[in-house]
Amino acid sequence: MSQRMIAAIVALAVSAGGASAREVKVGVVLPYTGVGAEFAQQMDRGLELYLKLNADQVKPYTITLIKRDSKAPNGAEAKVVVQELLIQDKVDAIAGFGYSPDAIASAPTISAGKKLAVITNAGTSFITNLSPDFVRTSFTMWHSGYAMGVAAAKTLHAKTAVVAYTDYPPGKDSLDAFKNAFEANGGKVIDAIPAGGPGAVPDFTPFFQRAKDEKPDVLYVFVPAGDHAVAVVKTYAALGMRAAGIKLIGPGDIVQDIKLQGMGDAAVGLVTMLHYYADLDNPQNQRFLAAWKKEYGADSTPDFMAVGAYDGMAAIVHAVQATKGTMDGDDAVKSLLGWTFDSPQGPIMIDPETRDIVMNEYLSEVVKGPDGKLHEKVLSKTDHVKDECKAQAIGPCAPKK
Ligand code: PHB
Repeated sequence: MSQRMIAAIVALAVSAGGASAREVKVGVVLPYTGVGAEFAQQMDRGLELYLKLNADQVKPYTITLIKRDSKAPNGAEAKVVVQELLIQDKVDAIAGFGYSPDAIASAPTISAGKKLAVITNAGTSFITNLSPDFVRTSFTMWHSGYAMGVAAAKTLHAKTAVVAYTDYPPGKDSLDAFKNAFEANGGKVIDAIPAGGPGAVPDFTPFFQRAKDEKPDVLYVFVPAGDHAVAVVKTYAALGMRAAGIKLIGPGDIVQDIKLQGMGDAAVGLVTMLHYYADLDNPQNQRFLAAWKKEYGADSTPDFMAVGAYDGMAAIVHAVQATKGTMDGDDAVKSLLGWTFDSPQGPIMIDPETRDIVMNEYLSEVVKGPDGKLHEKVLSKTDHVKDECKAQAIGPCAPKK
């Protein structure tokens, strides 16, 4: 065999070997410790479960997750770990962001690194405008808030509302979204009450007492799920607000599936709007629930955060295949424009204009089932809901010129 032939064979072997051994590194940024630790567990499990169930789809590549803790929900640590992941670990993509401040603070670093960054929770609408490398598979506060504003006026026939919200970007977004839709449909928001921050669960009593004294038809509350949500429902019950004729409504964050059973009967009758509840009855969700329980225990349940991450990993796997494992940032983002997926929440799409998710929204009521457990009963479904803040180009949601 000639030297030239040997060299050609070696080159072929290296390139083939390279392709089959191509490892794609995904940096995962989640609040593994602190107030958001349960969120991180949900999202971590969602990412891992997708990979486990779809190992064949990843071939001939391998995906390695490099996990970093974003700690407190203020963006400071997230920004540092994003930089480390991009520069030291040389990751090919980033996934995660439990809290909006984490994604907001990291945006300039993400842009400089030019790698796909898939947002699996953080819900402030304008975040995707902060970097061309962001793609969001979770939700925006406008998806649920706007749809709930319409439903409060048209379905619940509410005329007046008080809004209480955790005082940071997604809380303000949820307020704006609800108010925009509720008032366009004949309602009036008579007060908007900032109710503490995301870092610690406040005593909601003074905020809700103020709302009770104002006698609205509905109290619309946004809190970042978790223990905040449990405290909201307990305070609503303790103040006797239902008996006073005030309906508690909100985005589904206030009845997060992993917290629902712990809320007890106080939660029965709560009406919320969200793109995912574990009780959704569709074949993809049945398969997802069965796989989740097999993997994480019969008593465990996924929630909307788990699904945002599961769908996020599906998006990353799509990008890996579409770029033949190179994960060039521009190409990876481009491959996801218009991408569709049959998610446990129903069909989803990445809007090619905004890089944000388009999905169904479900109006749902908490009921007590024959099994003695609390369940979400879907009252109605709206298909293909887009982020209305960007559709209306409101403030920082307007496209960057
Ligand atoms: C956010 O910080 O964007 C966030 C956190 C928890 C939620 C919703 C939004 O339930």
